[in-house]
Amino acid sequence: VDQSVASSVRGLGQFLRFASVSTDPGRAGDIHRCAQWLARQFQEAGLAATVEPTGGHPIVLARSERVAGRPTLLLYGHYDVQPAEPLEQWTTPPFEPAVRKDPHGFDAIYARGASDDKGQVWAHVQAIAAWNRCAKLPVNLLAVIEGEEEIGSPHLAQWMQENRQQLKADVAIISDSGQYARGVPAITCGLRGLVYAEVMVHGPSHDLHSGIYGGAVANPANALCALLATLHDAQGRVNVPGFYDDVAELSAAQRQAWNRLGTDEPAMAAELGVPALWGEKGFSALERRWARPTCDINGLSSGYQGPGAKTIIPASASAKVSMRLVPNQKASNIYAGFERALRQRCPAGVRLEVIQHSGADPSLVSEDSAALRCGLRAVQTGFGAAPVLIREGGSIPVVGLIKSILGIDTLLVGFGLPDDRVHSPNEKFDLAALHAGTRTAAALYQELSALGRSS
Ligand code: BES
Ligand code: MN
Ligand code: MN
Repeated sequence: VDQSVASSVRGLGQFLRFASVSTDPGRAGDIHRCAQWLARQFQEAGLAATVEPTGGHPIVLARSERVAGRPTLLLYGHYDVQPAEPLEQWTTPPFEPAVRKDPHGFDAIYARGASDDKGQVWAHVQAIAAWNRCAKLPVNLLAVIEGEEEIGSPHLAQWMQENRQQLKADVAIISDSGQYARGVPAITCGLRGLVYAEVMVHGPSHDLHSGIYGGAVANPANALCALLATLHDAQGRVNVPGFYDDVAELSAAQRQAWNRLGTDEPAMAAELGVPALWGEKGFSALERRWARPTCDINGLSSGYQGPGAKTIIPASASAKVSMRLVPNQKASNIYAGFERALRQRCPAGVRLEVIQHSGADPSLVSEDSAALRCGLRAVQTGFGAAPVLIREGGSIPVVGLIKSILGIDTLLVGFGLPDDRVHSPNEKFDLAALHAGTRTAAALYQELSALGRSS
């Protein structure tokens, strides 16, 4: 691994040139070319690999030779990325990867998907290649790299069901999360869930002159704002009946352990460019991000958006709203409660439409398992530092599917950094993290080769 750092960065550069934006139908060609290219890379690393069709974007499936008596690892990652907009905020174009120093002076590769998740998948491809160059992989390895993670994995469950037999494994590994801080690598033991909804308020059949009709018809934009404003109370809590019913309280021991990790909240506010952090009373920012649920507007549109003024009552208004969920909330209950509350609160004179885009339950993994101990040792080898146990506020829907469909646990070993700007302009992946992550992956296969097998 140490000898192929430069070629690894070059290879990642090729991976990052594909504009594999899963939510954009216009990018289907890029998605397909990216999947084909990735399958080829797995082949060059020494695995058999195919591009598997699904009802949506394809899955890259790669496997090593299956040797009886060795544990089987299921590696999951995703080659799709979030949209790169707003494009004008990128220093270099999102799909023209560039290596340069980050604001703190560390070398990084800049491109959409650099950290989430192509760079982390690439660390594994490189680790597999290194094993096969020098020796032989010490485990049976199955890699499932999907193209729809960023849109909620809508076709993954069915594909996993249909391929349950060939996906049999002893443990799953995902590198799609982060280190706690530079120099403090981490293993993630919990992720939040997600409900993503769209709320549409329909008014008149066409935009109206706001002078001629204003005061005589309900304004959909006003109605939507009124509705959205009901979603939080003055304490910053989500104001939907039943929303907190299933929320597991944090134990005192857990809060203490997280407290010891230490967060500099003013430094975080400065890094993010906000005058102060915000959130539910009675919890630290870390607790709010890792163990408290949220409701956030992700997109908002209505009426005239061009330069200057235009006097209209818009025909409709819409908002994209997502809720992050924590143990033991259920995505299906939360969505139902959300829709019910909006319907009860919707003012007269407009028509309300609510749809759900995606849903994923929160996940917790054991903080004390044989696989976790292997992960701790591998990270120590790869990064030269002891990892801490953390949770993350983001969501990875497949973790729940791996448990429910395949019956196995997942080890979340992520290599990103908190300032990687995932989902944002100027996303980057730290080159030292790519190297340490590749070393970690290589060490992890070795460590897990000694794991007891369940089948
Ligand atoms: N890799 C992220 C999730 C993540 C981010 C985990 C940061 C840990 C730390 C993943 O690609 C992602 O963005 N997931 C989506 C979920 C989805 C259903 C759209 C998310 O969290 O918004
Ligand atoms: Mn990801
Ligand atoms: Mn993502």
